[in-house]
Amino acid sequence: MTNYDVIAEEYKQSKTLPWRTYVEKFTLMHIVGFIEGQSVVDLACGEGYYTRLLQQCGVAAVSGVDISEGMIELAVAEERSRPRGIEYRVKDISELGIKSEYDLAFAAWLLNYATDVHQLARMCKSIVRSLKPGGRFVTINTNPDDPISNFQMGKKHGFVKRAEIPIGNSAEIREGTPIIWTLSLPAGKEINITNYHLSRQTVTNTLLESGFREVNWHQPQIDPDAIQSDGKDHWQPFIDTPPFAFLECFI
Ligand SMILES: C[S@@+](CC[C@H](N)C(=O)[O-])C[C@H]1O[C@@H](n2cnc3c(N)ncnc32)[C@H](O)[C@@H]1O
Repeated sequence: MTNYDVIAEEYKQSKTLPWRTYVEKFTLMHIVGFIEGQSVVDLACGEGYYTRLLQQCGVAAVSGVDISEGMIELAVAEERSRPRGIEYRVKDISELGIKSEYDLAFAAWLLNYATDVHQLARMCKSIVRSLKPGGRFVTINTNPDDPISNFQMGKKHGFVKRAEIPIGNSAEIREGTPIIWTLSLPAGKEINITNYHLSRQTVTNTLLESGFREVNWHQPQIDPDAIQSDGKDHWQPFIDTPPFAFLECFI
């Protein structure tokens, strides 16, 4: 499992890559939509990038939760230097222990840290328990349908993916196969992050079995400003062969 304590600063820098802003953030915030007055939690909040954005949407309250002390330290440092009324805590999402508190549970990159279906189910059940009746879960994940042949697609955007398939096995991605993302940072450094493959069907079924009544997968969208400045061809591969996928689930 990726230890974010040791890459917290570098991970924070990776949020400045253009695809983060014009595809990841643009799509997530579009799906989040109007949340004024809502009670919101940012799960696997990291250093609070989205927690702060969600706070700016006029929510009644927002808090952040992450398993990494290093990431939460950065989030708390930012909160101290510019207080926004956000509370952060260190906790494994599988053990949130919160009941019916939130209108929206948000998570930018969480479910793909589950190494198997059992761990995934623990996360999903914990998220369902934390939501009020009618609550919603919005998230981004590695796209389980992205073929290995497309894993270099993001090279010119500063990321590539690699499947860690044991030697001797057929070159196939299976449930639990580690998918390693290498992110190139603006300063010329690189970080590796390990996700785990679970199929679209496994993720959908586990969310439904955990208590969500509706699970919708969404395609990436590109910020029109980015298309205007860089041209359609620069961004089109994110639509044609998406390396990541978005989910919106209702209880
Ligand atoms: C790719 S980072 C995303 C951080 C933040 N959401 C963002 O987009 O900037 C993934 C985060 O998930 C956290 N994480 C992984 N497994 C977790 C778990 N079981 N419970 C809570 N946080 C977890 C890691 O510590 C890390 O901060």
